[in-house]
Amino acid sequence: MCAECATELLENKFGKSDMSDTQKYVLITGASSGIGMAFARHAAQMGHAVGLSARREDRLQQLANELSDNYNVSTDIFVSDLCEPDSGLALASSVLAKGRKVDVLINNAGFSIASSFAASTYSAQREFLELTINTPVALTHALLPGMLERNWGRILNISSITALSSGGKGHTLYPAGKSFLLKFSQSLHAEVAHRGVHVSAILPGFVATEFQQTNGMEDEMNGLPHWMVQRPEQVVTEAWRRNENGTEIIATGMVAKTMAAAMQILPETWMRAITRKMAEDAYVGD
Ligand SMILES: NC(=O)c1ccc[n+]([C@@H]2O[C@H](COP(=O)([O-])OP(=O)(O)OC[C@H]3O[C@@H](n4cnc5c(N)ncnc54)[C@H](OP(=O)(O)O)[C@@H]3O)[C@@H](O)[C@H]2O)c1
Repeated sequence: MCAECATELLENKFGKSDMSDTQKYVLITGASSGIGMAFARHAAQMGHAVGLSARREDRLQQLANELSDNYNVSTDIFVSDLCEPDSGLALASSVLAKGRKVDVLINNAGFSIASSFAASTYSAQREFLELTINTPVALTHALLPGMLERNWGRILNISSITALSSGGKGHTLYPAGKSFLLKFSQSLHAEVAHRGVHVSAILPGFVATEFQQTNGMEDEMNGLPHWMVQRPEQVVTEAWRRNENGTEIIATGMVAKTMAAAMQILPETWMRAITRKMAEDAYVGD
């Protein structure tokens, strides 16, 4: 079975509906760089208003100016540290207080912790869980009712291909956190797709962003052949199109699709050995 065909088996197709002809409001977390910034540009290019959230205000302001100048769309910025407890709810309140009706929610902000679990602080692990799990859940819980009321919504949770892996040394909570987003997306999609709300987990493979510098993975990334690495724009174009079609799990690009197919087909013992060897080779911790 080809990788594409196996990936198709993971997908649930629902009726097509088109968002190209009406202006929507798209809220994106982690919009100050990488995949989030590419989502913001993509949405603005399609004529949609955007809400941009991250910690770096200068970056957000620069992006907001660029998008309103180039595409004449309305832009809001929401400066927020989404690792803070209840920051997801606070962000949703700020957006709603401005009178915005969020049609598309992109839970994208993320980071990872390169060291081993024992060598990192609990506070760092708690922040990871807050940003990866609690913030997307809070934003979704607060913004979903409006989507259901309007019988239209799109939620894209940026997970990772590691969500399907068996884990390994270093980045200990990363596969677990990303698996949470995958299962959450599937369950929610099952609940709300028939009411016009599509929920997808996006599973990128290797994407050239600031993620590697920020998270101590530069050497690993630099060692990869070019064909294995996607540009953020490629992730975004595919994620947007397939979410629109009602696809639940979206592994982006050929490398992630092949990995996804292998993880579905190969016995768990093989996958455990392979993913743990890969994690071991990339391990930079103690
Ligand atoms: N790059 C890859 O190879 C890859 C592969 C699979 C999945 N992903 C996932 O894709 C998503 C986007 O990552 P990326 O590759 O675009 O990385 P990136 O360039 O490092 O972007 C991360 C974004 O998250 C924001 N962020 C980080 N911590 C935050 C916090 N405490 N509060 C609010 N915002 C915060 C950052 O903004 P500020 O620093 O301004 O706050 C930035 O905008 C992440 O969820 C990541 O796990 C990436």
